[in-house]
Amino acid sequence: RAELMELFRERMYGREPSAPKDISFEVTKVVPDAFGGLSTMKEVRIMLDPSGEHYLVMLMFVPNGAGKPVPAFLGINFKGNHTTTDLEEVSLPDEVQLRNYGPGYQVPERGLNARRWPYEYILEHGYAVCTFCVHDPEPDLKGHYDYGIRKVYDGGSPRPDSWGSVSAWAWSLCRALDYLCKDPSVDARRVAVIGHSRLGKTALWAGAMDRRFAMVVANDSGCSGAALSRRVYGENLGIINTSFPYWFCSNYKEYNDAEASLPFDQHELIAMIAPRPVYVASASEDLWADPYGEYLSLVYATPVYRLFGYDGFSDTSMPAAGDSKVIGRMGHHIREGQHDCILYDRERFI
Ligand code: GCU
Repeated sequence: RAELMELFRERMYGREPSAPKDISFEVTKVVPDAFGGLSTMKEVRIMLDPSGEHYLVMLMFVPNGAGKPVPAFLGINFKGNHTTTDLEEVSLPDEVQLRNYGPGYQVPERGLNARRWPYEYILEHGYAVCTFCVHDPEPDLKGHYDYGIRKVYDGGSPRPDSWGSVSAWAWSLCRALDYLCKDPSVDARRVAVIGHSRLGKTALWAGAMDRRFAMVVANDSGCSGAALSRRVYGENLGIINTSFPYWFCSNYKEYNDAEASLPFDQHELIAMIAPRPVYVASASEDLWADPYGEYLSLVYATPVYRLFGYDGFSDTSMPAAGDSKVIGRMGHHIREGQHDCILYDRERFI
């Protein structure tokens, strides 16, 4: 495990800094009766560096009346906490957040992505949901290195193995978990890290790095997520490293058009999560993300789950669209339709 983690760090994600000591938190808002009393809503400012210039604003919904700490889903959102719901109480990004997003950022409209965040459904099933905006730690925009947290810890000059933004996002999920360990309403031993697409790639790396995450869910994570790179199907390394040169460390570009020379493949990332539960979800028309390659990663990680005494997937044929299965501590489904994260996916993760 140590050898593989080192390879992933050096060659792909880059090296993240260690957890800051004495990180501070501040609960900035509490709404005890959100969703008609179903939930307590909180906003928590989680500092990422001692200067106070970089922080996450985590939005949390915790079901009311559980009488004990509840399990939680923790995942990053693409466009801002206020886009995940129509609730007026959810704050818009503040001045510090906007400054760290970089110049010219247009704040998207409230509720824009609410469809992807079925809070009430998740809360009714007894889970808390926690999220923050991807841009809080590190803007998801090319050429924005000067604005994010990476630069602070790099001392301003990145090396070939300095962390890319996927690593910075994953590290921030760990900082959010640091907070959850101190919040008595949540059972920090049962936090699932979850993400869609680029944030599914991020959830996998966070789960590999930090064994406090009890479960990992990667939805449509594709190239450099769950999909095997050596299949070179749909998006490949040359494409991803050109379109998103800041997602991974510079060393990773050595494998553009040279996937066969990678010293690992993505099933080994899944194996780094063993023996904890892992769920890989695909969509039948999301060929860019290579659904078959995503599934095969589970198959080839299964021997590692077996080492720990858990079963997994052994059938190398592609499951049919609409298929959904949990075997041992691995889950998989392939939803009919396009690249997205909809209620159908959430129902299965729950
Ligand atoms: C692009 C990118 C993918 C990524 C996706 C997303 O399509 O090529 O790698 O997963 O964006 O995050 O939606």
